[in-house]
Amino acid sequence: MTHEQKLDYGTYDATVARSATLEQELLVSPKKFRVLTGDRPTGSLHIGHLFGSLQNRVRLQNLGVPIYIVIADYQVLTDRDSFESISQNVHQLTIDYLAAGLDPDSGHTSIFPHSHVPELNQLLLPFLTLVTNAELDRNPTVKEEILAAGQQRINAGMYTYPVHQAADILFCKANLVPVGKDQIPHLELTRVIARRFNERFAGGEPLFPEPHPLLSSAPMILGLDGGQKMSKSRNNAIMLGATEDETANLIKRAKTDADRTITYDPTNRPEVANLLLLCSLCSGRTPGEVAEEIGDGGGGRLKQLLIEYLNEYLRPLRARRRELEKEPEYIRGVLRKGIAAAREAGQETLSQVRRVMNMEI
Ligand code: TRP
Repeated sequence: MTHEQKLDYGTYDATVARSATLEQELLVSPKKFRVLTGDRPTGSLHIGHLFGSLQNRVRLQNLGVPIYIVIADYQVLTDRDSFESISQNVHQLTIDYLAAGLDPDSGHTSIFPHSHVPELNQLLLPFLTLVTNAELDRNPTVKEEILAAGQQRINAGMYTYPVHQAADILFCKANLVPVGKDQIPHLELTRVIARRFNERFAGGEPLFPEPHPLLSSAPMILGLDGGQKMSKSRNNAIMLGATEDETANLIKRAKTDADRTITYDPTNRPEVANLLLLCSLCSGRTPGEVAEEIGDGGGGRLKQLLIEYLNEYLRPLRARRRELEKEPEYIRGVLRKGIAAAREAGQETLSQVRRVMNMEI
């Protein structure tokens, strides 16, 4: 490798600080930015996704920032064998996006599965030549995912998907990527690939931007079993598409503690604090205010209040969701439009890439 730059995975604090600066710039000049972010289509989304990432995307959309949402369907194959439900999951994910307020008709938002954007996928090949095996082996998020998958045989897609993710981000020249902490290593790799590409092939011209991760200030939502992150696979999640009764039943079974006086104390009472936080997110009141109102009403009163708040808060979203469920052709149209927009951006980038790589015919 001629231009070896070290990949530095230890810059969490710097990333937090930079995110705050970027937030300021977003307010002043939203048009300077192009956002790309995305998810794997492994099923439908829960309220942790809503409060953690979806609302942030809607906020960026409403600031007027162009935003691309990639549905990473190829990435599903890196850590699981099953692929029967991919198409159904892509539809469910899209329904959740739209119900949460992402709006392709805003003219700012495109939603597309990356398997339908050949120009994006084609960037994988030159990008793979810009990183070493050793660098891919060191990626801490990939290491964790390998452990979590518990598979005997790790396919090469698992080691190389972060390079594919760089293609997801760079094909449309995105410069801002809202993600969670676990994705920071992938963003660092993306920045290194952009830099190496520019140096090696583009004579140092910034053909690709070096995109910044944008960490959201949204608090992490714990699962209803307390302690762990909310996650469908841990069975501790309230799905966006759940009914009001299902929601109530889940909340009734949520873990609390024995102290009947409700206080907001995230360190010592994480389960109670999590329920208070959810009440707060739904009502606009602070968790402390909600705690005070409940007083010594105990976990029972807290749960009752959360059931009311959450079901009321989600009612419009769930009504939209039910309507969208009845319109598979509309969903398909949203994806087709997203794919067309993505391909247009990808074609332009790929033709520049071919030119600088001397691959024009
Ligand atoms: N790796 C991400 C995840 O597992 C999903 C993803 C794929 C993504 N491509 C992306 C996220 C591009 C942000 C930008 O959740």
